[in-house]
Amino acid sequence: MFATLEQLPPDPILGLSAAFREDPSPGKVDLSVGVYKDRAGNTPIMGAVREAEQALLASQATKVYLPAAGSPGFREAIYALVMGRQATDLRPRTAVLQAAGGCGALRLGAELVQRAQPGATILLGEPTWPNHGPLLSGGGLQLARHPYYDGATRSVVMQPVLDALAGAGPGTLVLLQASCHNPTGVDPSREQWERILEIVAARELVPFFDIAYQGLGDDPDADAWPIREAARRVPEMLVAVSSSKNFGLYRERTGALLVLAADPGRAAAIESHANKAARALYSMPPAHGALIVEKILTDPQREAAWRTELAGMCAHLGKLRSKLAEGIMAARPGYDATWITRQRGMFSLLGIAREDVTMLRERHHIYMGLDSRVNLAGLNEDNLPRVAALLAPLLPGA
Ligand code: LMR
Repeated sequence: MFATLEQLPPDPILGLSAAFREDPSPGKVDLSVGVYKDRAGNTPIMGAVREAEQALLASQATKVYLPAAGSPGFREAIYALVMGRQATDLRPRTAVLQAAGGCGALRLGAELVQRAQPGATILLGEPTWPNHGPLLSGGGLQLARHPYYDGATRSVVMQPVLDALAGAGPGTLVLLQASCHNPTGVDPSREQWERILEIVAARELVPFFDIAYQGLGDDPDADAWPIREAARRVPEMLVAVSSSKNFGLYRERTGALLVLAADPGRAAAIESHANKAARALYSMPPAHGALIVEKILTDPQREAAWRTELAGMCAHLGKLRSKLAEGIMAARPGYDATWITRQRGMFSLLGIAREDVTMLRERHHIYMGLDSRVNLAGLNEDNLPRVAALLAPLLPGA
């Protein structure tokens, strides 16, 4: 049976983490997988999460199955976090499904679309997170790729984006990263978002938002702004939400799929189909992480503590961006590296050559994506000056 299967190459992102773990060099630096790290290079459990987890363990009386759609309290809380507490008018029109992380939400959304519109197409701006393609096409969607980013100017290429949207037929899905673009770190400005959403609405396209870094760009509300703005303009959309990064719940596989429908009856129908799709995939989502998020977001004190911690993480990333830019400019006088400080979230796509990425890994034990995506959180006071000095001569441009 399995003689037909050849060994596959490692995952482009997760494979790097594995290689990093095996590297015995004491000076190794991990700028690969999108995981937050503190000054000491650890990924700690957030204080609010630890406290909520203890409260959960103390109060939990059963491990019986969750409903297929997930914990009702988590679903309400995540809806409010993403759509805004004031968006009560849209709640009856929104199916909210707990999912196994942001990945699970993307896949569940694709499965749902496949049930409604078999063979539907989704537009993907390039470059994008390498797992978007497999998750969405694995759920049955056809992928149509178009340019999103120009490495020379380190900006969104608006005309090709708008042309791709204008050329798409009604009902075409559009994958949109709400904030902290992965891998580039370059988000559209609000004015650019308005132009994008205008065409999306006019062409009757269906946004499929991915919000995996809410709160790590500016703050949770600002980072969700494009989603809230889209909800004012379109009758239908999907949103894949992850609690991996902003709650640090990576391994707990916590996330949600929100589907805005034309009317409440349709939202109920969507929920029933999503439940059936989930039943055929994994039955029901894991509980632990979602119940932690629920404990945090349904308690004003815990939520405030979590927001403060998240703001601290966001500020730390901002400082690392400034220090990296300063370090590069010190090592390369005349070069303007301030683009790093204008980007948002964990990532920056450096634009250095593939052979230099390999050289940095093999000779200097610095790990980053083969596309030269770096996770800024892997930098700290000890390694930053060395990394900045090594990167400076390799960056393209004057
Ligand atoms: C990343 O982009 O590094 C993260 O989203 C982790 C992953 O699953 O790839």
